[in-house]
Amino acid sequence: MSTTMTTARLLPGGPVAEMILAEVADGVARLRAAGVTPALATVLVGDDEASAGYIRIKQRQAAELGFDSPHVRLPASASQADLHAVLADFNADPGVHGVLVQHPIPGGLDYDRALQVLDPDSDVDGMHPVNMGRLALGLPAPLPCTPAGIEALLAFHGVPVSGREVVVLGRGATLGRPLALLLAQKRPTANAAVTVVHTGVADWPRYTRRAEILVAAAGVPGIVRPEHVRPGAVVVGGGVRYEGRRLLPDVDPSCDRVAGAITPRVGGVGPVTVAMLFRNALRAARSAAGLAGQP
Ligand SMILES: NC(=O)c1ccc[n+]([C@@H]2O[C@H](COP(=O)([O-])OP(=O)(O)OC[C@H]3O[C@@H](n4cnc5c(N)ncnc54)[C@H](OP(=O)(O)O)[C@@H]3O)[C@@H](O)[C@H]2O)c1
Repeated sequence: MSTTMTTARLLPGGPVAEMILAEVADGVARLRAAGVTPALATVLVGDDEASAGYIRIKQRQAAELGFDSPHVRLPASASQADLHAVLADFNADPGVHGVLVQHPIPGGLDYDRALQVLDPDSDVDGMHPVNMGRLALGLPAPLPCTPAGIEALLAFHGVPVSGREVVVLGRGATLGRPLALLLAQKRPTANAAVTVVHTGVADWPRYTRRAEILVAAAGVPGIVRPEHVRPGAVVVGGGVRYEGRRLLPDVDPSCDRVAGAITPRVGGVGPVTVAMLFRNALRAARSAAGLAGQP
């Protein structure tokens, strides 16, 4: 009879996010004491209730951390030019340091084109092409939030990454590709041998089965099963799909039995991703105030 007992150590994201947010709150207080009020602007387009809810949560959190958070809500009928005009206004406002466009945006609009209008230094998602280029070159930049969150999560829980074999399932622009760049960088919390697999690698389990750290970044519910995991490996669930409000992770729960450590289905990578957004906003404000590099 097979056992369903969980043996893996859990790697929750909540404590990591709390630590990062405490550092951000401290940094914001220092900036305010120096006469700078950091501001994270938010933009919401359309009437999607879930997106409106996410923006409200981020605005509340921004206020708690001490950020000003100017907000613009555009109607679903807004044109691409309307959205660009809002972003251009924020670019031109010296009092705004970070800008967040809640995505997805309504179908007729192009998020990637809008992103290119944004000042790369205000891009708190770290997704602007200039910031992706900086990441590839190892230059200082706002880092993409989920990949940076995964590096922070592993470091917080004392999971060694340097010199180890990391396999990332998925090469998407949000997660897999930037994560591979990040974890291959020369830094004690990275410095890994990274392999990226995708639909072009038919026998991808051949790679995942040898991974010491396996990151699921596909957005295909349940795609990672115990037979894809090396016994004792660290498994990070980054990919998720939402069906309504239901969250469907890439990592099947039965992987708990094979992994040595694993992120929980809920409260894993997600909270750290949000914390990284605020860290990027603080860095943008510090840099605009000429205080980059300060603790
Ligand atoms: N937890 C969080 O806070 C958070 C934040 C951001 C994103 N995410 C999640 O991260 C996931 C990835 O997002 P993304 O935008 O980076 O990627 P994406 O553009 O959705 O691409 C998915 C990747 O997975 C690969 N893939 C899909 N099905 C596969 C299969 N059956 N076998 C092998 N590879 C497969 C695709 O391969 P091909 O390239 O060959 O098509 C592609 O590279 C999404 O689920 C997203 O929701 C989570």
